[in-house]
Amino acid sequence: GLPEYVKIVEVGPRDGLQNEKVIVPTDIKIEFINQLSQTGLSVIEVTSFVSSKWVPQMADHTEVMKGIRQYPGVRYPVLTPNLQGFHRAVAAGATEISVFGAASESFSKKNINCSIEESMEKFEEVVKSARHLNIPARGYVSCALGCPYEGSITPQKVTEVSKRLYGIGCYEISLGDTIGVGTPGSMKTMLESVMKEIPPTALAVHCHDTYGQALANILTALQMGINVVDSAVSGLGGCPYAKGASGNVATEDLIYMLNGLGLNTGVDLHKVMEAGDFICKAVNKTTNSKVAQASYYA
Ligand code: HMG
Ligand code: MG
Repeated sequence: GLPEYVKIVEVGPRDGLQNEKVIVPTDIKIEFINQLSQTGLSVIEVTSFVSSKWVPQMADHTEVMKGIRQYPGVRYPVLTPNLQGFHRAVAAGATEISVFGAASESFSKKNINCSIEESMEKFEEVVKSARHLNIPARGYVSCALGCPYEGSITPQKVTEVSKRLYGIGCYEISLGDTIGVGTPGSMKTMLESVMKEIPPTALAVHCHDTYGQALANILTALQMGINVVDSAVSGLGGCPYAKGASGNVATEDLIYMLNGLGLNTGVDLHKVMEAGDFICKAVNKTTNSKVAQASYYA
């Protein structure tokens, strides 16, 4: 059966913006996050404490983290690839973090400049330091349904990396279809393998929509007992180290589907659409959300 409640992790301010070529002004990012905070979303990924040489769009991480208004009941995680990023995140006031690994060696090298094994050693230090400060850590596994460099990735490899992240203390593992190549078939096979090691209550899915399969893949995950789903307002998003990857599943479209299934999210679709409208105008883009498009013409 389906879960009663679905937690949406809004990744628009981070995944949604990190691939934008034109630098979005810091005050726009802050206003965007403050708007999202008033929609009922309970988790909003704010920024990444990564190298500004690698991802220039996230160079203002400290200003954004310090500048947002933190609403009660909303959590504001940030990405931290190593101890340097972690210390900067804490100094900026972050109280939740995510480490981000991959199930593909090539992608790990391109994205964070180290092997999977090296990344796990760094993540272990980060998660340990986080635990000392009572900071919960989430773990991402990229390329869970395919890699831009290696092609298909085995469910065994995804399981192995997920288990490692769970073992070092990540409370939740977000399985990323980084380039949006998965289908309900491959999602099911991958999850069956991962769920032999990790309970569904500690799993999330993070679907990019390159091949138009994201909602179908998410529904598959829900049917298998997962109730945490990552999405980005307006379907913004993409990874700078995954060429050709398009946006995340749109938060508006996800909410519309969940509402239709009678599942509770606590999120106000109309308010999310307003936040989507705001950021699309700010980055001079048209929305990728089908629901926002339909409502616009209605
Ligand atoms: P590196 O060059 O290997 O790092 O980068 P290093 O430790 O060798 O240090 C080299 C320089 O980087 C030094 O500076 C360090 O201070 C600096 P220099 O002495 O040359 O002036 N440095 C840092 N600066 C700021 N923040 C840091 C940091 N660490 C070192 N944290 C690093 C390693 C991980 C930093 C780099 O590869 C990087 O920033 N990568 C960016 C990766 C990224 O943000 N990718 C996008 C997010 S992942 C994603 O989108 C997928 C996801 O959505 C899920 C999915 O869809 O599958 C999560
Ligand atoms: Mg992503």
